[in-house]
Formats: sequence, C-alpha cells, structure tokens
Amino acid sequence: MSAVVISGSGIFTPPFAVSNDALVSAFNARVDRINSANAAAIERGEQQPLPYSSSEFIDKASGIKSRFLMDAEGVLDPERLCPRLPARSDDEPSLMVEMALVAARDALVAARVEGAEIDLVIVAASNLERAYPAIAVELQQALGAGGYAFDMNVACASATFALSTAADAISCGAATRALLVNPEICSAHANFADRDSHFIFGDGCAALVVEREDLCRIAHPFVVGGRQLVTSFSNNIRNNAGFLGRCRPPVAPHAELFRQNGRKVFKEVLPLVVELIEGLMAREGLSSGQLARLWLHQANSNMNQFIARKVLGREPDEGNAPTILDRYGNTSSAGSVIAFHLHHQDLVPGSIAILCAFGAGYSAGAVVLRRR
Ligand SMILES: CC(C)(COP(=O)(O)OP(=O)(O)OC[C@H]1O[C@@H](n2cnc3c(N)ncnc32)[C@H](O)[C@@H]1OP(=O)(O)O)[C@@H](O)C(=O)NCCC(=O)NCCS
Repeated sequence: MSAVVISGSGIFTPPFAVSNDALVSAFNARVDRINSANAAAIERGEQQPLPYSSSEFIDKASGIKSRFLMDAEGVLDPERLCPRLPARSDDEPSLMVEMALVAARDALVAARVEGAEIDLVIVAASNLERAYPAIAVELQQALGAGGYAFDMNVACASATFALSTAADAISCGAATRALLVNPEICSAHANFADRDSHFIFGDGCAALVVEREDLCRIAHPFVVGGRQLVTSFSNNIRNNAGFLGRCRPPVAPHAELFRQNGRKVFKEVLPLVVELIEGLMAREGLSSGQLARLWLHQANSNMNQFIARKVLGREPDEGNAPTILDRYGNTSSAGSVIAFHLHHQDLVPGSIAILCAFGAGYSAGAVVLRRR
C-alpha cells in the first residue's frame, strides 16, 4: 500500500500587525478610564484600582511580541476592544473561506495539485464562524474540489487530529488527496479587557495538502508516519459561546469568551504532551538523537522550551523547535502548521521530525514526519 505524504503547505497572514505596546496601550487606556470613573471609591478604599498590563510581562511570560489581526482598529479602540468584522450576505464568501483560499492556493501550488484533484477537504479549527453549512463544504465548492468535506473542532490540537483523520481516510481508500485548513479568527473570541489573556491570541490560517505517495508530484514530501492522539477532560480552558446562549438569562458580555487558568494549563498540559511524544517515539523505535525538529503548538515559548528539552534530552535551539509565536501570537490550531510551513525547507532527505499540537479539552496530537 502506498504511503501518505504531506506534499504542500501554505499560510495566510492577516493584514494588521499589532505589537504588545499597542495592545497594552489600549488596555491601559480602558483601565485609566474605569479607575478615574471610580476614583472616589478607590480613594475611600472601597474599591481596588484595576491594574495595568505591561509589554515586559507579556514578553517574559509568553514570548509573544506581536500578532496579526483581521481588524486592528476595533481591537485597539479602548471603548471597544473587539474587532470590527462587518456581516456578509449569504451570497458572499465567508471570511474564513477567504482566509482559507489564500493558504490553500499556496499549499496546492507547492504540491503541484489542482483544486479539482482534491477529494477530501477538512476545515479544522477552534472556532468556526457558523454552525452550518460547513465552512469546508463552501471551500470545497470554491476550489472546485470533489469528494467530501467537513468541519471539525479539537481546539488548538485540531491540525494534528485532522492530519491523522486524513491519513486514515487515504490509507483506507476513502480519499486520495486531502486539503486540510486551519482558519482562526481568535481575536473574535478573545477578551481584550482581560489582563490575564488579552495578549495571547493572533489570527491566521494554515493549509496542508496530504495525498497518496504514488500520486505525489514533488521530490521530497514528508511521509506521515506514526501518530498518537489523546484527550482528557478539563475546565481550565473554556469558551462557552454557543447556540444555547439565547435560551437562558443574559450573562455578562465577556462571560462567553475565551478564558483559561493559564498556570494550571501550563502545569497540567506539559506532562501530558511530554508523555504523548515520548510514548509515540518509543512505539516508533525513535531515539531523541534521531529527531531533527519539533513543530510545536505555539502558545507559550517557555512551555515549548520545556517540552523540547525533555523530548530531545538536550538544550533545544531554534533549529530544533522553531518559534513563530513571537510574531504571530497564539493562532490556535494554525500555530504548529505555520511553524512547519516556515521552517521545513532546510530539512535534508531522511530527516525525522514531529508535529505536535495541544490545547483545550485537554486534547493533544503528535505525528511523526519523515522527509523523503
Ligand atoms: C497565560 C500565561 C502566559 C501567564 O503567565 P504566568 O507566568 O502563568 O502568569 P500568572 O498568571 O501566574 O501571573 C504572574 C503575575 O503576573 C501578573 N500579570 C498577569 N497578567 C499580567 C499582565 N497582562 N501584565 C502585567 N502583569 C500581569 C499577575 O497578576 C501575577 O502577579 P502576582 O505574582 O503579583 O500575583 C501562562 O500561564 C501560559 O501561557 N500558560 C499556558 C497557556 C496555554 O498553553 N494555553 C493554551 C491556550 S490555547
């Protein structure tokens, strides 16, 4: 039976780069306004002043320096702190399909594949802009693809779950060529008024072409090897937004946005991910010395350093575990694939690497990739 390979990748980078300083300045302007409105109560000791955010903290605690957003003006307006993304009619392409098309076209060009040759489209993301019809089915039509298409959501781990699902479908003959896309408009569910998390997210999109190796037209694709997925329930990262919102008494405006207990996530997800990767390596007979690279989920650079150090058994450098979150922020499901896209060209034939993503659920997935 033919192997399954990744033969192309692409990304979409949103138009607005927003630095920590710009985000902190908008956040702190809101803090000033609220504190001065409550100055008398604060003076009397009846109320605590809201604390400022700081760029130094953000850089040190997360490694994030900047992020790309679909709209910056609404996010940086201290009275709003939310992107302005106008509604579109049903006849216009949806925003996520527009993002997906840019990333998908790059991936198709890299793989030398036409949209019409794709027979499986998976849109895998943390936040889909509507319930149905599936974004993937709209994208399938826009690309002139055949076969079948569906959306899936495994939060930040979505890309690895989609890759594993596509490899299974191709291996069993249900599909021959798949396009996997991770469009994320994280800014629409981020709470830019929450000091603990206002700096975390960026927007973006990544795409992969995955196909049977005997159909592949490029010289050095990545063979999809062993893979392992794991889930374990946790309330430490939640987003309660959903269709039941209208059926219950209204809640505070930000209550149904992203929230997390970042410290607990840090402590609980690290062992889960290290165990997952080490288990996969043991199953595949891989030693840490054989691993050329880890493309990790891009949530926190300290976290990634820790995982890479444990898995590789040595002090990792940028070549071993590339960072893109300094420029992109946490782009949820797109992050590990953006890291793959921007940092795979230099790997020589025979190189072995692992793509690994993790997040809410908890959920985590790891996939061994070998360069032909
Ligand atoms: C979110 C995260 C960056 C926070 O970093 P942290 O080191 O855990 O920071 P803490 O929340 O413990 O806060 C440390 C201190 O900084 C302060 N702080 C928090 N946010 C701040 C901000 N924006 N500006 C300045 N100070 C801030 C806190 O008040 C606290 O002060 P104290 O020590 O006086 O109480 C980090 O926990 C993380 O990335 N966790 C993993 C998240 C993850 O992977 N999530 C997956 C999501 S998809």
